[in-house]
Amino acid sequence: MNSAKIYNSYDIVGDIAIIKVPSDDVENAKNAVEEIMKLYPRRVKAVFMQVSAVQGNFRVRQLKFLAGENRTVTIHKEHGCFFKVDVERCYISPRLLFEHKRIPALVAQGEVIINMFSGVGCFSILIAKTTNTKVYSIDINPTAYEFMQENVQLNNVSGSVVPLLGDSKEVVNTQLRNVADRVLMPLPELALKYLPYALMALKQSGGCIHYFDFQHATKGESPIEKTCQKVVKCLDPLGVHYRIGFSRIIRSTGPHWYQTVLDIYVSSLPSKFL
Ligand SMILES: C[S@@+](CC[C@H](N)C(=O)[O-])C[C@H]1O[C@@H](n2cnc3c(N)ncnc32)[C@H](O)[C@@H]1O
Repeated sequence: MNSAKIYNSYDIVGDIAIIKVPSDDVENAKNAVEEIMKLYPRRVKAVFMQVSAVQGNFRVRQLKFLAGENRTVTIHKEHGCFFKVDVERCYISPRLLFEHKRIPALVAQGEVIINMFSGVGCFSILIAKTTNTKVYSIDINPTAYEFMQENVQLNNVSGSVVPLLGDSKEVVNTQLRNVADRVLMPLPELALKYLPYALMALKQSGGCIHYFDFQHATKGESPIEKTCQKVVKCLDPLGVHYRIGFSRIIRSTGPHWYQTVLDIYVSSLPSKFL
């Protein structure tokens, strides 16, 4: 197997490499381990194979140990911050590297932010490190929440990031109505369903929603156009005034499937969200 082929089929989180080859393809897995160890002799200390899809409410995956140290906890470094994580019990993806830089760069001093699907706190901590803000950082996975708390300490942002454990729609509805200038929704599986709660979280004067989605698009179709159509179909009947100020394809996730992000700027909220 050549390096280019291996490159697309693994992620490195901290010092752990996670390869994605069909579980019955033992020969390929062996080659991938050898190649990774050769490419990153000092960086990679453990290699695992992903043996399930990313699944369930917590968006986690099952792993099979292949080589090196048999542990799933590591510290991942990104844009000068440190994220301690158990790669089998929490979601983390180095493929969000660009968004992890792009969104914090948009934040203005003094903003109040709600991250509805925080994982171990990557976006929340990166934002708090960049700007003087308050970030309410919600996750439903108790393990991710514990690592988030630890990561807040590790990165010295305890005054700015407030970790909250729970279902973000409940947390917003009961504690965080009309407080936010900006809402992050980095969970494509729930973003459309939870969009009314993101509206409810925004201040009366409006704000920005970072909306993540998965979109199917065949040849000739635009994944962005299709994502926009879904959002328009949800927001227009609610009487929300908004514009989609930015959009991009984050990555391809399979044949004809894409992860997309839209920045939705809401200028006024109908009274039912106040
Ligand atoms: C794709 S991950 C988020 C990734 C994270 N933003 C990052 O940058 O690494 C989605 C997260 O949403 C959490 N989650 C799923 N359903 C939720 C809900 N109803 N309320 C709050 N968090 C939820 C999962 O536990 C998971 O950690």
